[in-house]
Amino acid sequence: MAAARPQQFVAILDFGAQYAQLIARRVRDCHVYSELVPCDITAEELRAMGPSAVILSGGPASVYAEDAPDMDASVFEMGVPVLGFCYGQQIMAKKLGGEVSHADTGEYGPATLVRDGRSSILANTPADAQTVWMSHRDRVTRAPEGFAVTAHTETCPIAMMECPERRLYAMQFHPEVRHTACGRQMLENFLFNVCGLRASWTMDNVIDDLVAGIRAQVGEDRVILGLSGGVDSSVVAALVHRAIGEQLTCVFVNHGLLRKGEPEMVEEVFREEFAMPLVHVHAEERYAALLAGVTDPEEKRRRIGTEFWRVFFEEAEKLDGVRFMAQGTIYPDIIESGARKTGGKAATIKSHHNLIPFPEGVHFDLIEPLDHFFKDEVRELGVALGLPERMVYRQPFPGPGLAIRIIGEVTPEKLGILREADAIVREELDAYNAELFERTGERNSAHSCWQYFAVLPDIKSVGVMGDERTYARPVIVRAVESADAMTADWAKLPYEVIERISVRIVGEVAGVNRVVYDVTPKPPATIEWE
Ligand code: XMP
Repeated sequence: MAAARPQQFVAILDFGAQYAQLIARRVRDCHVYSELVPCDITAEELRAMGPSAVILSGGPASVYAEDAPDMDASVFEMGVPVLGFCYGQQIMAKKLGGEVSHADTGEYGPATLVRDGRSSILANTPADAQTVWMSHRDRVTRAPEGFAVTAHTETCPIAMMECPERRLYAMQFHPEVRHTACGRQMLENFLFNVCGLRASWTMDNVIDDLVAGIRAQVGEDRVILGLSGGVDSSVVAALVHRAIGEQLTCVFVNHGLLRKGEPEMVEEVFREEFAMPLVHVHAEERYAALLAGVTDPEEKRRRIGTEFWRVFFEEAEKLDGVRFMAQGTIYPDIIESGARKTGGKAATIKSHHNLIPFPEGVHFDLIEPLDHFFKDEVRELGVALGLPERMVYRQPFPGPGLAIRIIGEVTPEKLGILREADAIVREELDAYNAELFERTGERNSAHSCWQYFAVLPDIKSVGVMGDERTYARPVIVRAVESADAMTADWAKLPYEVIERISVRIVGEVAGVNRVVYDVTPKPPATIEWE
């Protein structure tokens, strides 16, 4: 079962905008809960969700295109305030009897917005002119009856329109992007002045609500949870434990593919600090056997993912009277799997990049308290629940772990080498990032590394150590700057830092005689080597 929605919430009708998720983030930044819903939701379905306000997102289509995303015009009759952005303004105009036209020239980038009248949305923003961000070709050329035009730009005569009596507002520009200087103020004006909402969606309130929801759902029953060492499952563990204490048992499947120190951290945090019932399953040998002789990266991923659940369910069967399974499904998992039609999500298990069905004959009722949260909100929750920052802010790490950073067959010897080399890369670059942070005061300054690790390729080469010729392995160091892993650039590390890493790896890790640095951005490369 999904977590319950807070009482106050903003529904964002998603017309396919590149920025739709960003709108949800911005509303949440104002401490009001918000969620994306499909644009073709009916007014009846929407009313059943009980939103306090509705936002219509932008979208790439033309409202006159044959397959243009449409909406139920009765949404405007619900008596709930509506705010439209870009395509959202155009569809509002079209549905309510205004006019939208194609223009010969589009308007992309910054534009100067000039007021034509009073608008609550523009309260506390510059009285004369201000910069907003435009991205459109079509535009509204006649506002619907009863609407006032409150601002224009040089190429867009109706840059804002509104009908305050019906609490309907729209703008051609994008207040959600940072380039719209007063975008946040406009959003706050809508949320707090027009809709009368309160900024009550704070982490402490969120935790109280989630805890109450979990208690009500679970009652006296028992819950099981698969801990992977990753952020999402760790935060769910801490949250569910806060709610129901020892009714929760965590099963930590140790596949032997985690980084140095990670299994120990799971033990230390969950067993010792949180005093949770924790089953640590040592599946290292089982995984070693499963991976012997496998060189294809997809096959490695498949075997590791399937085995995780096999081991987990074997353990689950040994525990009596478990009715629920908690898991760390987060909002992007749901959005990316396309399963976001209101309430229509099938019961699936989160497995690395995928949501998969339960194996045959196995069933638990699901608890997914994080399924409305973005990743950085999950991290904030983790910190608020008392998890250590080094666990909550750890770098992205693939579910199949070190196995996919070993090119070719995974063997215990190679795992040992990679684990040690990786620990050195992390130690040195953690220190480098910390030093940058101290100097710049920014946690993610332009040059701090975002993700950094070692990779072990499937070759050996000649070297010389002392008087001896060696025939040993190279280690590849990968360090990238990125914001979201979609694109990345190789980190322009100072030579001294690269040198220190190199000297330490060949000096401290037996079996390595060479260190190379990957200088390829993504694209064309990927961040990981597999
Ligand atoms: P690539 O290599 O495709 O990786 O540029 C993009 C980001 O995704 C991470 N990654 C994973 N994360 N499970 C995860 O949770 C996985 O199976 C997985 N594979 C890649 C990768 O570390 C990078 O940050």
